[in-house]
Amino acid sequence: MAAVRADHKLVVLSNRGPVAWRAETDGTLRAGRGAGGLVTALVPALESAGGVWIAAAMSDTDRRATREGLVATDDAYEVRLLEIDTADLHAYLDVVSNQILWYAHHDLWNRPREPVVDDDMYTAWDCYVRVNELFASEALTAIGTDPAVVLVQDYHLALTPALIRAHRPDVRVAHFSHTPFAPPSSLAVLPGEWAARLLSSMAEADICGFHTDRWAHRFRLCLDDWGVTPRGRTEVFPLGPDVSSLRAQAGEPAVASERAALETQLDGRRAVVRVDRAEPSKNVLRGLAAFDALLHRRPDLAHDVAHVVLLNPSRQALAQYRAYLQDCISAAESINARVGREAVILHAEDRYARSIAAFTLADVIVVNPISDGMNLVAKEGPLLNERDAPLILSTEAGAHAELATVALSLNPYDVSATAAAMSTALDMGADERGVRAHRLRELAAAHPPADWLDAQLVALGVTP
Ligand code: G6P
Repeated sequence: MAAVRADHKLVVLSNRGPVAWRAETDGTLRAGRGAGGLVTALVPALESAGGVWIAAAMSDTDRRATREGLVATDDAYEVRLLEIDTADLHAYLDVVSNQILWYAHHDLWNRPREPVVDDDMYTAWDCYVRVNELFASEALTAIGTDPAVVLVQDYHLALTPALIRAHRPDVRVAHFSHTPFAPPSSLAVLPGEWAARLLSSMAEADICGFHTDRWAHRFRLCLDDWGVTPRGRTEVFPLGPDVSSLRAQAGEPAVASERAALETQLDGRRAVVRVDRAEPSKNVLRGLAAFDALLHRRPDLAHDVAHVVLLNPSRQALAQYRAYLQDCISAAESINARVGREAVILHAEDRYARSIAAFTLADVIVVNPISDGMNLVAKEGPLLNERDAPLILSTEAGAHAELATVALSLNPYDVSATAAAMSTALDMGADERGVRAHRLRELAAAHPPADWLDAQLVALGVTP
C-alpha cells in the first residue's frame, strides 16, 4: 500500500460510516460496525491509509453519541459523525438518495406510477442540497489549510465535489460510485436542473470512479447529453473483498454455530444460497420464482435441495422496501405450502455470521440482480465457499465483467433461464466444479480494498 504523501490529509465522505453506536442495557453507548458493502470495502482500505472519515449519524443512538462528544477512534483513522436534523435526514436520505437517485442509477422506475415529482419532492431536493453543503463544509473544516485529498463516496453526496472545489480549487477530489450509473433515459426522468447540477458537480472532481467500463460509459453518455465538460477523468477501479479479514471472520465461533443451525434446517439437503439486502434491485422475487420453476421441472430435487435465502432488511423507512421484503416472505411461504415442506429456508435478519456460514456450506450460489454496481457477494461467496459451488451470476452485476468466464451467466429477467442455470449448477460434475471454483477464487481475490484505494490515490497523483 502506498502511503498518502505526508503533507496531504486524506478525507473520506460517505453517508454511512464505519461506526454504528448502540446502547447497552445500562445506557452506556458502544461503537459497533456500520452496515453495507461500501463500509466493508473502505474499512480495510482506510486502516492502511489513515485519515478522517466523515459520515452521517444514522440513528438516535448515533446522534446521542455525537452530542456527547463520543468519538470512535481507530488507530489509523478518525470518524466524525454529522448530526443532521431528522426531517432533513429523511428527505435527503430516504426520499432523494434512496428513492430517487437509487432508482435512477439502477433504472428501476415503474414509470406509470413513479417517481412523482411534486412540491414535497422539490422540498426534499432542497434538503439534499443542504445536507451536501453540510458535508462539504465539514470536509473543509477537517482539511483546514492543509493540502488534501477528498474521496467522496456515492450518489448521496454527488453535490459535494463542486462545493469543495469552489472553496479549495487546489484540493484533489475523487467521486466514486458504488452503484451503476443511470443511463441517460433514466436520469432524464429527474427535473432537468437536478440532473444538470448532479452531473456538473461530479464533473468538478479530478477523478470520477466506477466499478466497470459500463457504468463509466453511461456517465460519459450523460455528460454528453447534458453538455457538461468534465474537469477530470472518468476511470474504472474494480473492487474485491479483503480476503484475509473475510477468512478471519469465517473462523469466528459464531459462524460455526450458525452453520450447525443451518445444517439442522437443511437436514442433509443441498443448498442453493443467496444473501442480499432486501432490496428491489436484488431481484429476490425472480430468484424465488426460478427455484419454484426448478422444483416443477425437476420433482426429483424436491427432497434433495433447499433454497437458503438470507435477507438483510434494508431501508425499512420506505414503503417500497417494506412491501418488497413482505412479498419475498410471502413468495417463500407459498412455495413451502405447495411443496409441503421448508423448501425455501428464508431468514429476514441482519446476521452477518449466518451469512458467512451459508456461503461456506453452499452447493450453488445465486446472484441475480436487475442492476448492481459491483456486488461484492458474488466475490465473497466463492471465496468463503468450501464445496466448489458454481456461481450463477446476472450479466447486470458489475462483477460479471470480471467473472463471466467462470460463472453461469443469466439475464435477470429470465426466470426460465435462471431455473435452467440452477439445474445445470446442481448437476455439474466435481471436476468442472473444482476448475471453475479455483478460477473464481483467483478472480474474486484480485482487487483487495487497499489496492482499490491505492489506484485512486495514484490516479490523483498524491502518492510519493
Ligand atoms: C450500496 C450503496 C452504499 C450503501 C449500501 C447500503 O452498497 O452503494 O452507499 O451504503 O448500499 O445501503 P444503506 O441505504 O443501508 O446505506
